[in-house]
Amino acid sequence: MRTPERPARLTFPDNFLWGSATASYQIEGSPTRHGGGPSVWDEMCRQPGKVYRGHSGMTACDHYKFFKEDVAMMKDLGHKVYRFSLSWPRLFPEGVGRRNDDGYRFYNELVDELLKADIKPFITMFHWDYPHALFQRGGWMNPESPEWFEAYAKDAVGFLSDRVTDWITMNETVVFLIMGHLTGEHAPGIRFGRADVMLMLKHALLSHGRACMAIREHAKKAPRVSYAPVAGVDYPVTETPEAIEAARKSTFAASPSNFFWSPSLYFEPVLKGVWPEDAAAYLGADDPKITQAELAVMNQKIDVLGLNFYQGNPVEPSADGVTKVAPKVGEPRTGFEWPVTPDAIYWSVRFFWERYGVPLFITENGTSALDWVALDGRVHDGGRIDYTRRYLQWLHRATAEGIPVEGYTHWSLMDNFEWAEGYKQRFGMVHVDFETLKRTPKDSAYWYRDVIASNGESIW
Ligand code: BGC
Repeated sequence: MRTPERPARLTFPDNFLWGSATASYQIEGSPTRHGGGPSVWDEMCRQPGKVYRGHSGMTACDHYKFFKEDVAMMKDLGHKVYRFSLSWPRLFPEGVGRRNDDGYRFYNELVDELLKADIKPFITMFHWDYPHALFQRGGWMNPESPEWFEAYAKDAVGFLSDRVTDWITMNETVVFLIMGHLTGEHAPGIRFGRADVMLMLKHALLSHGRACMAIREHAKKAPRVSYAPVAGVDYPVTETPEAIEAARKSTFAASPSNFFWSPSLYFEPVLKGVWPEDAAAYLGADDPKITQAELAVMNQKIDVLGLNFYQGNPVEPSADGVTKVAPKVGEPRTGFEWPVTPDAIYWSVRFFWERYGVPLFITENGTSALDWVALDGRVHDGGRIDYTRRYLQWLHRATAEGIPVEGYTHWSLMDNFEWAEGYKQRFGMVHVDFETLKRTPKDSAYWYRDVIASNGESIW
């Protein structure tokens, strides 16, 4: 792995927002325990063989019960911002119509607690826990689905925007669509055909657009609207102009070898109001045929673009454009076996900034490991410290070059329900014992506290 040069200025920009991220279904415990409705993930957990060892999110970290302790812990650890998501079926048990007042009470109190602790709330409206009741009505396939999402967004904004200004419409469209509906590894866990999934994408992007409009129209305090897609890129292993250009081109091409993960499907309609021509050509009869009017709805102003960044694909230029660099035997990998590619975060930030010109925020980055509490009562997660330090060093290079990155929310605050992997993969800077629900900050949590206190200087 490469390391960047030590820069002249060691700190991140003033007012850089340091914090962590979570998602409702991964930490709260199921909404069905407190008057909410089931999400597609509740149903997924009931199906044998879908989630590692039959784990379920029924209790998760029981953040619903322990949210005050969790906010106090974030404060002790010096966090300045907290990215979390609202559970749509906790607020609307059937997805639309009837409200669950206890859901609103919960988020109301959580927001108040954060503000008291001087931690900025950064809310994701949808992080995959889709109301099961709406799935039964066709889910994202239903042409009414953008209206459903808009109604939910309007209500949530109306309720919380007297105190909350920062809103992300949806998290990683590619994952809930492709892993949820094409490969079936995530909820709802059904394999649809590609024409159906592309129609769902059209409805999801329309939902995003309509939610942006609802936020702008109904927010009581000037809102900052955001979107958090997967921001993996192809990145150059050498820094020649040819290699950089080849990587940039292949990042934004709808590549047949990994078509559904092409960033352009999720970024271009939202940030440029364009449906990529190469995607349309590849899909042929399965193309969702998005009209200009629909593209205009998808293409709402984004104030800050969230990037969820974990890994990039190393490439080099070749006679026919670009070639993927083969993985090296024994290369560093995370608990999930994702390659550790710290320099790629720099290229991700740079490529998305150059193409879209919207200020950025690293809404997710982190690593899973099989951590446990050691005999001395502490959790020695040296791998996570090294991983984060390396990624932050490369992120710093981007900010030192003047690319506007407003903050970084580490994935994740604490170990949690890692979707189909259950409680096996631990991403937290805080360890959670899933029998007792005891929280133990890991070594990385204290290391990160120093990073925050020095505004990044201690990463060098
Ligand atoms: C998701 C998180 C998830 C993390 C690790 C991201 O794709 O937004 O919910 O836990 O990656 O898999």
